[in-house]
Parts: sequence; C-alpha cells; structure tokens
Amino acid sequence: MNIILMGPPGAGKGTQAKILVEEYGLKHISTGDILREAVKKGTPLGIKAKEYMDRGELVPDDIMVGLIREVLPKDNFILDGFPRTLPQAEALERMLKEEGIKIDAVIFFDVNDDVIVERLSGRRSCPSCGAVYHIKYNPPRNNEICDRCGTKLVQRDDDREEVVRKRLEVYRKQTEPLINYYREKGILRVVDGTKSVEEVKGEISSVLGNG
Ligand code: AP5
Repeated sequence: MNIILMGPPGAGKGTQAKILVEEYGLKHISTGDILREAVKKGTPLGIKAKEYMDRGELVPDDIMVGLIREVLPKDNFILDGFPRTLPQAEALERMLKEEGIKIDAVIFFDVNDDVIVERLSGRRSCPSCGAVYHIKYNPPRNNEICDRCGTKLVQRDDDREEVVRKRLEVYRKQTEPLINYYREKGILRVVDGTKSVEEVKGEISSVLGNG
C-alpha cells in the first residue's frame, strides 16, 4: 500500500505516519525530517534548505524532486510532506509512471487554524531520536525530557509564531490546490484532523478500508 499524507503544518501527519508504520509496516518518507537531518549534519542540502525553512518558505521544487527521486521506494511507503506544490505533484506522477507505482490514497487532514496554532506552539521534539510530544496532548513523563532516550526536548525553530503564520500562508497558496488535484483523480480521502490521535487513527483505518 502506498499513501500520501497531506494537510496544513501541525495537522498531525507525522504523528499518524508513525502509527501507520507500526500498523502496516510501511516506510515513512518525511521530507521535513530528511531536510532537518541534513541541516543538523550541515550538508550542502541542509545549508541551502535552512534559509527557506527558517523563513517558513518551501525549499525549491527542483531540489525536492531530486531528493524524492533518490529515496522513493518501489512499494509500501507513506509520503509525508511531499508533494507540496503542483509541479512537485506532476513530477511525482511522472516518476510513479516510469516505475509502475500506484498511489492507493491521499489522506487529507482537515484542521482549522486555531487548532494548528495550538498544536504547533505546544509541540516539543527530541533532537536526538526524533520523538514528538505535545505539552498538553501528549506530554513526556518528565518535564521536557524525552521518554525514549532521556534527551532534553526542544521547540522546532519554525514553530515560532511568526514563522507558523508564514507556513500557513504558503500552505494556502501553494499546497491547498493539490486537494482538488487529487480529488479529481478519485484518490482523496478526508479525515477530521481536529479529533484526538486515537480517533484520527480510527478514521484513517476506515478510509483505508480497514475500519
Ligand atoms: P514539515 O516537517 O513537513 O512540516 P509541516 O508539513 O509543516 O508539518 P509538521 O511537521 O509541522 O506537522 P505534522 O502535520 O507532521 O504534525 P505533528 O504530527 O508533528 O516541513 C518543514 C519545512 O520543510 C517546510 O516548512 C519547508 O520549508 C520544508 N519542506 C518539507 N517538505 C517540503 C517540500 N515537499 N517542498 C518544499 N519544502 C519542503 O503534530 C503537531 C503537534 O500536535 C505535535 O505536538 C503532536 O503531538 C500534536 N498532535 C498531533 N495529532 C494530534 C491530535 N489528534 N490531537 C492533539 N494533538 C495532536
């Protein structure tokens, strides 16, 4: 099964991707995680990407398409954070056609702006193992310390309020048009992303035909 997760920043895509990986054994391809790792390592990709990410803008399409071309598996994957623009979606379609790969569902997380701001301002991540928490909805057992590896949790640089506002604006302009793109292809499945993690998980199972 091959799935694309789509939705505004902080909609819960990464959280549900981790659950789907456990449930269905899919490979999780998060372009955000790949870019953050490159930034951490200071690679040429990371140095270039950082300027865009810090401003809440999208990394240029040619870079992102090249990156996906390198990491896209043949089967059983979740694309989280790609495609984010029409040229990315068209490039992906060409790639999939060349490889004979089919997307089974594009899951769109429907979430309003108030919820997004609350989720992103409360998000804390582990810089070491990548675990994601929320100070209210999914707090670590010990204040600001990762349950899994004991590292001090951090707030992502792009979760600052002014950057979140920019990310939302970019999302509306550049990514939202993809909802219709995939609706017209008949593979769009909408879930109510404002519900609890468990409820969203249940909705995803249903739209994938396993609920
Ligand atoms: P990326 O990392 O992809 O950011 P994003 O799409 O903005 O998504 P987030 O990771 O912020 O949120 P999420 O939906 O995964 O939510 P999460 O599960 O963490 O991209 C970052 C940047 O990289 C971009 O701005 C861009 O610059 C660049 N980039 C990446 N891909 C690109 C591309 N294709 N093209 C160009 N540039 C690209 O949840 C959020 C919080 O809410 C957490 O605290 C979580 O615990 C909590 N939570 C989750 N679900 C629930 C729930 N149901 N109820 C209560 N709390 C919840």
